[in-house]
Amino acid sequence: MQICARKQEVRDRVTGLRRQGQTVGLVPTMGFLHEGHLSLVREAARRTDRVIVSIFVNPTQFGPNEDLTTYPRDPEGDLAKLRAEGVDAVFMPDVEEMYGARGDTFVEVPGLSGVLQGALRPGHFRGVSTVVTKLFNIVQPDVAVFGEKDFQQLAIIRQMVRDLDMPLQVVGHPTVREEDGLAMSSRNVRLAPEHRAEAPALSRSLAAAAELAASRPDIAGLESAIRVVLAEAPGGKVESVDIRDAATLAPLTGKLDREAVVLLAVRFGPVLLIDQRVIAP
Ligand code: PAF
Repeated sequence: MQICARKQEVRDRVTGLRRQGQTVGLVPTMGFLHEGHLSLVREAARRTDRVIVSIFVNPTQFGPNEDLTTYPRDPEGDLAKLRAEGVDAVFMPDVEEMYGARGDTFVEVPGLSGVLQGALRPGHFRGVSTVVTKLFNIVQPDVAVFGEKDFQQLAIIRQMVRDLDMPLQVVGHPTVREEDGLAMSSRNVRLAPEHRAEAPALSRSLAAAAELAASRPDIAGLESAIRVVLAEAPGGKVESVDIRDAATLAPLTGKLDREAVVLLAVRFGPVLLIDQRVIAP
């Protein structure tokens, strides 16, 4: 497994693979890898001949009061896990290599980025779409795999790839969960023990929503039912419960009459947990 700190190294690697007629899959990550990331790597390996993983904690997607400096990191552990998965190369640039001294260009998908998590975290998705564009340009993969857990991020990346005619296929992969239902996330290790015990209320509330969906409930009633289950986690501050059209992320009112996505954001101390589930009547 080649470890590339420089853009040129990963470009040369990909050029070599292409000369051998190999297809290339990319899994962009911010490191501190868990089973959820590894399932993305396996999905990429199912679809392409060689997998490249990027590990880069991207400063432009963190707000001034967000957890950039405390974001968990474990480069050695990450490399061991990726080696065991048979990954071809890991791209691990530092901030200087990634952005240079004078980075002044951003990629933005304003409609989808300004709502939901984007409204709570101004600039976050602009940072994501910019770094993902850079990674696509550097690696030039055939396929890139992202987790469905970050549903809005995935919708934004799909839109960006469509709008800018980027020549690759974006694949979404289902959320991987702990045994008690908590969605796997690098942030989970920062939960206090009492918060970790309460956090599965998110997935329980989504299961309750999926069950209720069959009876074509009122959207407002559905939201109340979700909030009742979330109240079983008194240490969590519910930042948002959104029930949106799964295809467009447009708000829904009245009866549930189409495929919808429930998006949750709940803060436990300093740790913001998100989760999502697609539901259908
Ligand atoms: O989902 C993530 O880990 C990040 O947002 C991504 C896509 C790697 C961009 O920094």
